Amino acid sequence: MTNAALPPDGTSALAWLDGTGETGQLIRGMDWTRSGLGPVESWPPSLRAVTGMLLLSPVPIVLLWGEPGIMIYNDAYSVFAGNRHPALLGSEVRKGWAEIADFNDNVMRVGLAGGTLAYKDQELSLIRHGQPEPVWMDLDYSPVPGEDGKPAGVIAIVVETTERVLAERRARESERRFREELEAQVRDRTDALARSEANSRKAEQALMQMQKMEALGNLTGGIAHDFNNLLMAVHGSLELLRERLPDDPLLFRLVDNALAGAQRGSTLTRRMLAFARRQDLKKERIDLHALVDGMRELMQRSLGGTIVVETRFSANLPAVEGDANQLESALLNLAVNARDAMDGVGTIVIATTDAWVKEHDGTLAPGHYVCLSLSDTGSGMDDATLKRATEPFFTTKGVGKGTGLGLSMVHGLAEQLGGVLRMNSRKDIGTTAEIWLPAAQASMPVTSQEPVAATGVRRCIPAQAATILTVDDDDLVRMTTVEMLEDLGYAVAAARSGAEALKLLEARCVDLVITDHAMPQMTGAQLAATLRERYPALPVIMATGYADLPAGQQPDLPRLAKPYSQQALADIVARIMPRPEQRGA
Ligand SMILES: Nc1ncnc2c1ncn2[C@@H]1O[C@H](COP(=O)(O)OP(=O)(O)OP(=O)(O)O)[C@@H](O)[C@H]1O
Ligand SMILES: [Mg+2]
Repeated sequence: MTNAALPPDGTSALAWLDGTGETGQLIRGMDWTRSGLGPVESWPPSLRAVTGMLLLSPVPIVLLWGEPGIMIYNDAYSVFAGNRHPALLGSEVRKGWAEIADFNDNVMRVGLAGGTLAYKDQELSLIRHGQPEPVWMDLDYSPVPGEDGKPAGVIAIVVETTERVLAERRARESERRFREELEAQVRDRTDALARSEANSRKAEQALMQMQKMEALGNLTGGIAHDFNNLLMAVHGSLELLRERLPDDPLLFRLVDNALAGAQRGSTLTRRMLAFARRQDLKKERIDLHALVDGMRELMQRSLGGTIVVETRFSANLPAVEGDANQLESALLNLAVNARDAMDGVGTIVIATTDAWVKEHDGTLAPGHYVCLSLSDTGSGMDDATLKRATEPFFTTKGVGKGTGLGLSMVHGLAEQLGGVLRMNSRKDIGTTAEIWLPAAQASMPVTSQEPVAATGVRRCIPAQAATILTVDDDDLVRMTTVEMLEDLGYAVAAARSGAEALKLLEARCVDLVITDHAMPQMTGAQLAATLRERYPALPVIMATGYADLPAGQQPDLPRLAKPYSQQALADIVARIMPRPEQRGA
């Protein structure tokens, strides 16, 4: 290798710098007098030895020589120094790396005193490319002995770990994020679990409430059924008694009082049956707007002049299927509740709307529904009252004022029609009662008010010779019916069961059968079906106040609602009884 620093005699005092890389050549060519070290040729052997060694190392090494720490380093270190190289070469360490002068002062102090220092991933802020950057390094400092054996400098092995440290940081960061995400997911799942537990608790409570209402329904329905029969006997007998009374006004008054009492009783039992969903309901197509309009006058009369009834009807409302009379009475019950809640003064809003229920919602199956609502701005209900409002006999109106059966009736009716009653209320703000009913199918035919008897209709009473068979397992009802019919001039046969009726029919000619439905062994509907087979021309009237026929299986028979008056009995018999020339089935 040729070099300007080679002595003219060709022997090289700087031969030890041959093959020591670019930095080695810079060292060879530099003027070292300013650094205080003097020409390279005059460097002491110890300095030359250690410089020669570090220049050959692939690891970044810097020698800080003498008190001021004059910097001598190799190619690997020059890369590490960035654009501070080559100015750094031969400079004093505290000036060369001014930004970490304190750090290096300590290194020089310790090293020249014979000590060593080691740093792992030491973070320093260095300016290597024009601006400060954070760097991390493993640093090992050892003293280098001079000619006298004492420390004359400090050698530093510098391994930059910035990339590894940053990679580890990134890994730690992504691990942290992963952990956080995982924790968030666990939290979400735990919350979801808690929510689903709360939901199932809610569902359990709803089920318990449903079971309670079901049990109450069975109890109420059972009581109402029996009372219906008793009232039937009381009412029928009183009617017959009234006709035979001697002409004494006091006796008439007393019997009329008793009749009115029996009438009140049957209104009650009807509400109880409604709650138990055991009312005998008609199924007819109802236009709710026409229904509300049609009962405006009646409603206004029942509510009094200080209540304003406002309607908000939604356009193109589908029809519903149900019993118009019962719906009117439900609406009236709601209106009376609203009036009571507003102390008789205020506005009641009756509104309609329709909606699709997409998923099972409480007891509502998915489908198209119509909502008929009635709102007031009255006293409203607290949660406890609202929860119990539809229970039968629950009232806050005091003894003799409320039966507590109004909402029960509406609730039972709505459910029997495949819908639901929803009460929304806020204390001191007001209440909205919503009756949700399934929208009728567009193609559903409008059913006639009264089913037509199989053998034609007769409106005048030809009485005398006609024979009527009355079938009822309840002795009181059967006896009362017999007496009412006999009083009307008919010949009457009576049977306690379907089987007894069939036997009797084999022996005797009968023109018309009136049968109860709820009877053990053979129901009225089963009896009617057998009769239709055996005696197709024999008309049958179903007398029942109790709808325990499965929906859709109701025989197409004329109905007589229990308890019935003699007049109601006379009217339906007159209508259904075949003409004299048609009899003899
Ligand atoms: N619109 C309403 N505003 C405030 N409370 C109401 C309303 N409707 C019902 N309630 C509460 O619910 C209870 C039960 O009502 P429900 O109609 O079944 O019976 P009632 O009105 O007390 O008696 P009845 O209907 O025989 O007159 C009421 O006593 C009342 O406390
Ligand atoms: Mg009421």
